[in-house]
Amino acid sequence: MSKRHLAFVCQNCGAAASRWQGRCEACGEWNSLTEEGGDKPVGPRKPAKGRLFKLEPLTGEAKDAPRLPSGLSELDRVTGGGFVRGSVILMAGDPGIGKSTLLIQASAALARAGHRAVYISGEEAAAQVRLRAERLGLSDAPVELASETSVEDIIATLSEGKVPRLIIIDSIQTMWTDAVESAPGTVTQVRGAAQTLIRFAKRSGAAVILVGHVTKDGQIAGPRVVEHMVDAVLSFEGEGSHQFRILRAVKNRFGPTDEIGVFEMTGAGLREVSNPSELFLSERDLGSPGTAVFAGMEGTRPLLVEIQALVAPTSLGTPRRAVVGWDSSRLAMVLAVLEAHCGVKLGGYDVYLNVAGGMRINEPAADLAAAAALISSLANSPLPADAVYFGEVSLSGAIRPVSHSPARLKEAAKLGFARAVMPEAARGEAGDPAIRFMTVGQLSGLVADIAA
Ligand code: TYD
Ligand code: MG
Repeated sequence: MSKRHLAFVCQNCGAAASRWQGRCEACGEWNSLTEEGGDKPVGPRKPAKGRLFKLEPLTGEAKDAPRLPSGLSELDRVTGGGFVRGSVILMAGDPGIGKSTLLIQASAALARAGHRAVYISGEEAAAQVRLRAERLGLSDAPVELASETSVEDIIATLSEGKVPRLIIIDSIQTMWTDAVESAPGTVTQVRGAAQTLIRFAKRSGAAVILVGHVTKDGQIAGPRVVEHMVDAVLSFEGEGSHQFRILRAVKNRFGPTDEIGVFEMTGAGLREVSNPSELFLSERDLGSPGTAVFAGMEGTRPLLVEIQALVAPTSLGTPRRAVVGWDSSRLAMVLAVLEAHCGVKLGGYDVYLNVAGGMRINEPAADLAAAAALISSLANSPLPADAVYFGEVSLSGAIRPVSHSPARLKEAAKLGFARAVMPEAARGEAGDPAIRFMTVGQLSGLVADIAA
C-alpha cells in the first residue's frame, strides 16, 4: 500500500503536487506552493464489506427544508428565509468588514428567541467578544461563548446536552483538526477542519456558519477551497470609506443567489437598511454633468443607484479605461457601440466609471444609464435630475428590454423621480405608472437628445 508522503499544496486553490514548483499547474498562481504533511495515512484497509442502506423513491411529498429565521430580515432575505438545519454557510469577506459583528448580532437575536446559539471564536478571547457584545447592547442575550481552536474539542463539547441550533465558527482559518498533520492555517488544515465541522452539522442538525477571511488577491489560505464543500457562500462586501455593507449569496443550495442584504455600520453595530435606494441616493451630486440614476433590480427588490462617469482628454498614448462597481468589458462594449453607431469619438479620452456608494452592479440593464452618464460627461451637459435610466444596449446600438420594468418604475416614482428613460419595448408592460416615461429605440437617439 502506498503511503501519502509530504506534498506541496497550492495555498490558493488546494491542488497538490509531488514536488515544488514556482507556479501552480492547476490555477496558475505564482509562488503559492507550500510543503505540507499531507493527510494521515489511512492504515491497513479492512476487507470491504459495505453497510446496507435503504433507497428511497424520488416521488413522494417534497418537504421544504426546515428553517430558522435569524431575526435580521436583511440576512434572512439573502439566505432565502433563515438558516437551514444541518446546513453549513461560509461567511466570507475582507478582514474588518464586519463579519464578527453581524454574526454576534444574529446569534444574540436567535438566543433571545429561545434557541441555543453558540459562538466559538478562534481569534478573540471570550472577554473580548463579551466586550463587543456589551458595546452592541447584546450582553443580556444568552449566547454561549468560547475561545477555542481544536475542532475535536469543539465537537466533543457541543455533542453534550441539547444540540445547538446555531454554531458560529470565527474563523475557519484559526481552526485545526487532529485528522490532518499540516500546520494550522494551511489549506489542508482549513479543508480538514471544515470537513469535520460539516460532517458534525449534517449529523447533529445544527446550522453552522464558518467565517472566512479573504483578501482581494486571495492571499489568505482557505476559503476558496471551502466554497465547494459548504451549502451556501455569503459574501460580505463594502468599501472601507463607506458605511454601507452588502451581503450577497455567491452560492446557495437552499435559496436564491441574486438577493442582497444591505446594512449600515454604525457605532452600535450593523443596522439593517430596508430601503437601500434612499441610502444610495443620499449623497447625490445634483446638477453636475456625468451622473445618471440607474433604476436597477437586485433579486426581487428594485434599487436605485447613481452611476458617475468622467470623460477627459488623455495625455497618454493609450487612453485609460477604469471602472469601479461595474464590469469593465461591458464598459468597453458600450464605448464601442458609441463609437461605431453614434458617431461619438472617444479614442482621445480617458474614461472613468464609478457606481456610487460602493455598490457593485451585475445587470446588463445598467448599459443605458452608463451610456447616458458617459455622453453627459463628454458633452459637459447635466442630465435632468428627476430622471432614471434603464435598458440593455445591444451591439447593434438597439436598446433591448429588460425584466421587471413595472417594479423599477414604481420604485423611481416612490423616490420622487418624475421621468424614466427606458426601452421602447417596455412601454407595453409599464401599465399606468405615476411617472412620465420616454422610450428609446436606438442609443443614437439618446446621444442626439443629450447633445441637443
Ligand atoms: P468586525 O466585525 O470585527 O470585522 P471582521 O470580523 O469582518 O474582521 O468589525 C470590525 C470593524 O467594524 C472595526 O473596524 C470597527 C467597526 N465597528 C463599528 O464601526 N461599530 C461597531 O459597533 C462594531 C462592533 C465594529
Ligand atoms: Mg472578526
